[in-house]
Amino acid sequence: MNSTVATPAKPAAATRPGSPVVINEDANHELAIRVEDLNLWYGEKQALKNINIDVFQKNVTALIGPSGCGKSTFLRCLNRMNDLIRSVRIEGLVEMDGRDVNARNMDEVALRRRVGMVFQKPNPFPKSIYDNIAYAPTMHDLVSRRADKDDLVESALRDAGLWEEVKDILDQPGTSLSGGQQQRLCIARAIAVKPDVILMDEPTSALDPISTATIEDLMDKLKTQFSIVTVTHNMQQAARVADYTAFFHMGELVEYNDTKTMFSNPNTKKAEDYITGRYG
Ligand SMILES: Nc1ncnc2c1ncn2[C@@H]1O[C@H](COP(=O)(O)OP(=O)(O)OP(=O)(O)O)[C@@H](O)[C@H]1O
Ligand SMILES: [Mg+2]
Repeated sequence: MNSTVATPAKPAAATRPGSPVVINEDANHELAIRVEDLNLWYGEKQALKNINIDVFQKNVTALIGPSGCGKSTFLRCLNRMNDLIRSVRIEGLVEMDGRDVNARNMDEVALRRRVGMVFQKPNPFPKSIYDNIAYAPTMHDLVSRRADKDDLVESALRDAGLWEEVKDILDQPGTSLSGGQQQRLCIARAIAVKPDVILMDEPTSALDPISTATIEDLMDKLKTQFSIVTVTHNMQQAARVADYTAFFHMGELVEYNDTKTMFSNPNTKKAEDYITGRYG
């Protein structure tokens, strides 16, 4: 079994077996999350096999691969969302700031504040636009005074590129917005608690092309503040938005590479076949 940590990183790392070529050596290569020898089973069925990957801060990392290869399962390991599934068993290390997120004494609520999530289908709370944003920061005691909440709601909506469209209707239900607006509301909600990492599971697959382009632009802006890990079935999207791309296949991380290299000159035949549409 290959236990080399996949590190699409600095030149020194590029000399290690299987390490990718790095195009932009000036990019941020500080670690956001380190995953080592991660294995996950649903009952008897193994869904993740010996995954090793370093996720870098303030980059977009795309997870690609055929349906059922384990992308969502992997994403959920990063904020312990798999804990909610009873049959799951996990071995290995998922580390943030030198701490194992699966440690018994890890505060899951605090972890999910630091590692937010945006889902495929926009899922606003059944609350006003304002309260969709203000609710979690209030729960986490990040804000209490009304004026501070107002500021936070405005800045989160501005950062999510939604403020101009909703500033006069903040008391209307989040669910009254269009699908693309709802997804930006969910992104605003995720960033309002000031996470370090935002996980996105096919965030644009339910959206029209214009809303998709808006969210892609947004990801590009948000990565100056946050680390983003996103799942996509859209190869053009991965090529457009991601700094690094991880190709999963049947529960294994087959290749992790600088996105440009992944799409122009992948190291593995499997990744090449998938990217060029030969299977998947
Ligand atoms: N809650 C669950 N219980 C049992 N098995 C599951 C569960 N969720 C996922 N699996 C299985 O784990 C494997 C990986 O599933 P996962 O949803 O992570 O794939 P994926 O790469 O996200 O696929 P897709 O592109 O279709 O979303 C699949 O074989 C799936 O059937
Ligand atoms: Mg999935």
